Amino acid sequence: MNTLASENVVLVGFMGSGKSSVGRLLARALHGRFVDTDRLVVERTGREITDIFATEGEAFFRREESRALDSLLGQRGLVVATGGGIVTVPKNVEALRRLGVVVWLTAEEEVIWTRVSRNRQRPLLHTENPRATVRNLLAARNPHYQAAADLRVDTSTITHAVVAGRICELLKDWPGRG
Ligand code: S3P
Repeated sequence: MNTLASENVVLVGFMGSGKSSVGRLLARALHGRFVDTDRLVVERTGREITDIFATEGEAFFRREESRALDSLLGQRGLVVATGGGIVTVPKNVEALRRLGVVVWLTAEEEVIWTRVSRNRQRPLLHTENPRATVRNLLAARNPHYQAAADLRVDTSTITHAVVAGRICELLKDWPGRG
């Protein structure tokens, strides 16, 4: 049975773990609709994320992100990519798990760094030492991803398409939240 008929699929993980790219492929494979909470925030506010962080700050962004997440509850047939910090708000973790099966995409720290240092679109990494910021944020967030996740796929050495394929395989054995 197609998992999306009964449950949405929710991707969590650090910046650069491939949530959006994998999510698009997965939505196609499962005949679902792809949704990205970052995109929802941009659409809702009419502003880019870097702009929101710069002018309103992170707390404002987190409130909009929680709203975006809550707006999806009750919908079906979704593959949802989330922002890397969504799990840091405790009530979001509950909402993520209500929304669907939560898949944690991981990658080795060095791989994450290679991926995220390619662009400047991530305001949390606009620090004096972004490499150290990645290390510290990863250490702080990993327990939150772990607590939220039902399934986990390491993306360090495989393509987005292979990651999507692995998730499809894992979903076949997923018993449902019950
Ligand atoms: C953030 C990750 C970003 C975006 C925002 C904050 C974070 O999403 O939500 O810049 O706190 O890790 P991606 O994980 O898609 O880069």
